[in-house]
Amino acid sequence: MEESIKKDFIEELNTIVSAQDLQNLKSKYIGKKGLITEKIKNLGSLSPEERKIQGKALNELKNFIEDLIKGKEIEITEKEISKSLRKDFIDITLSGKNYYFGGRHPVNETLLQIIDIFKELGFTVEEGPEVELDYYNFEALNIPKDHPARDMQDTFYVSEDIVLRTHTSPVQVRVMEKKSPPLRFISPGKVYRCDSDVTHTPMFHQVEGLMVDEDISFANLKGVLVYFLQRLFGQIPVRFRPSFFPFTEPSTEIDIGCIICGGKGCRVCKQTGWLEVLGAGMVHPNVFKFAGYPEGKYKGFAFGMGVERLTMLKYRIDDIRLFFENDIRFLRQF
Ligand code: FA5
Repeated sequence: MEESIKKDFIEELNTIVSAQDLQNLKSKYIGKKGLITEKIKNLGSLSPEERKIQGKALNELKNFIEDLIKGKEIEITEKEISKSLRKDFIDITLSGKNYYFGGRHPVNETLLQIIDIFKELGFTVEEGPEVELDYYNFEALNIPKDHPARDMQDTFYVSEDIVLRTHTSPVQVRVMEKKSPPLRFISPGKVYRCDSDVTHTPMFHQVEGLMVDEDISFANLKGVLVYFLQRLFGQIPVRFRPSFFPFTEPSTEIDIGCIICGGKGCRVCKQTGWLEVLGAGMVHPNVFKFAGYPEGKYKGFAFGMGVERLTMLKYRIDDIRLFFENDIRFLRQF
């Protein structure tokens, strides 16, 4: 009888492929109410002689079944592991993904260089608000309400008295109101104008500069700005042209020799051989008056530059709007 149970069990075992089926098979034969277990329970009804023989045979059969089940268990587990390994296979021979490191935006890079050069010359850094009173953006810079110079800058008005600053020059007055000379600072920041084409954007960056003391002259202005431009661009020619700003007198615009054509004349410099990079001048006495300085005591020079403009020249970029599109292919080149 044990032989036929053994045979049945082996046949059934051979068809098993899952852990659950194996568990069911185990219960069927040696579980609490399993075939063999029941037979062991019934041993009591046999004669002592028969019990001894049957008991031994049943125990051997139970051990045999247990061993085969354990073996099958190991076989199924191994199969499952190798199946999941095949499914989650990682091919470590494949080359890895390329990670790109972030970098500074070219405009920021230029801005930091400008700040570094002026810091070396002993200038400090001051800041002012981007949403500015009309008073600081215009009036205190000698540009009254009806002054035609207001047309030079296309202003975004927040209200009648509040504007988005059109330049960093209002910081000049804000600092002078609080501090007495000697003053030597720059003020970098964002400015806004209703303007948009290949060389103009509605938001751009300027760096303002101001140096005030009792005996500052135009020679100081020239010395500082020629040094600055030659530090930024190398040993290029620099020229000063007379110009007009209501807050400086005399005023000048400063050109550098065209770095694209070397001064021969090209499309970028409009065949002139020169590129305008800075506005500057001696601080107008009216601006000192607005700042509350005693009349005639101080002299100073101020200057302002467009950071995007300088960056375009440094990296030979011909459309300012590329700086603000954030096209990763453009930015990765820097
Ligand atoms: C001024 O803004 C004066 N405040 C500069 C100044 C300061 C003069 C102190 C004297 C003393 P201007 O409007 O020219 O000047 O602008 C300065 C620079 O800003 C320009 O040379 C140009 O490089 C840049 N700029 C002007 N408008 C734009 C714009 N829409 N987009 C990008 N850059 C601009």
